[in-house]
Amino acid sequence: MTIQKVGVVGCGLMGSGIAQVAAAAGFHTVVREVSGEIVEKGLKNIDKNLARLVEKGALDESKKAEIRGRLKGTTALEDLKDCDLVIEAIIEQLATKRELFSALDGICQASTIFASNTSSLTITEIATATKRPERFVGLHFFNPVPVMKLVEVVRTIATDPAVYEEMVAFGAKLGKTPVRAHDSTGFIVNRLLVPYLLDAIRALEEGVGSIEDIDNSMKLGCGHPMGPLTLLDFVGLDTTYYISNIMFDEFHEKRFASPPLLKRMVLAGWNGRKSGRGFYDYADPQKPKAMKF
Ligand code: CAA
Ligand code: NAD
Repeated sequence: MTIQKVGVVGCGLMGSGIAQVAAAAGFHTVVREVSGEIVEKGLKNIDKNLARLVEKGALDESKKAEIRGRLKGTTALEDLKDCDLVIEAIIEQLATKRELFSALDGICQASTIFASNTSSLTITEIATATKRPERFVGLHFFNPVPVMKLVEVVRTIATDPAVYEEMVAFGAKLGKTPVRAHDSTGFIVNRLLVPYLLDAIRALEEGVGSIEDIDNSMKLGCGHPMGPLTLLDFVGLDTTYYISNIMFDEFHEKRFASPPLLKRMVLAGWNGRKSGRGFYDYADPQKPKAMKF
């Protein structure tokens, strides 16, 4: 494995989790955000997760200090210049991701591998913003990253097979089970999951059941760990809205179309758990209360 230092761009829900697991796996890790305040918030989240592991006896204080010692936050993209791998986990918008990778292409060494954690964008379309599409893959992690065991490793027609195999090995080194996927919109999981989540919103819009009853039905009837509306709040309604629009643009199938309620909730800033309100109100995060529409 040639990877020693990992850069992560974005320290939100996903970026903070990816930075945590990379540092825990022994990689020196630099995570970049757009403001010092957001870097601090992301690092605080990592500290909270590590403290929980210490409390449970899964980690001792010295290991926790080692992990934290390998982790650095920054707002300067230039601090990623000597990374062997850069994983991007910023907003799900093509233009923003292309702009970022174009800038990174000029900053990082020619040998650096680039990876996107995109949920639904075409990796090829992001990779072509750089002069290194053969050193570009998708590394699609799942929320919450420290807990979910899967990583989808995505190759494009341009990805160098040796780079691809190195990324499969990197996923395993993080303690994840890597699955191999082609650069098809939504890869494997979101191709199947997104229509289900959007259908749950349509069921709510059509009055099939209440928020609680839809969630309880899938939890208790199908053994899902979370009901679909709770999961939507967990993923982020803004992120789901972007994903749905991107997948609909690709496939032109109604099952990927954004339900009107989702659009209105995002317009109102109700982005789910991270913004304090979505299908549930998280004023008391331990006791979410279903919203009334
Ligand atoms: N960060 C780190 N660890 C967390 C965590 C978080 N945000 N939330 C929970 N955990 C840990 C807890 O510490 C606990 O650890 P132990 O078992 O070692 O004690 C464990 O996860 C279970 O947590 P809880 O007992 O508090 O709660 P739970 O049993 O309900 O599990 C859950 C929480 C793991 C999130 C579970 O509800 C679950 O699996 N939900 C479904 C998540 C899912 O489907 N994710 C995929 C989303 S789609 C996606 O990511 C792709 C995309 O592109 C949109
Ligand atoms: P988020 O809104 O929690 O975090 C995104 C972060 O990116 C924000 O903190 C924002 O400040 C930051 N950002 C934006 N532009 C930036 C830039 N140029 N440089 C550095 N930081 C920048 O979103 P998220 O849920 O973490 O999603 C991030 C990516 O991961 C998206 O592509 C999303 O589709 C994908 N993803 C999300 C989930 C999920 O369940 N939320 C799961 C898998 C993949």
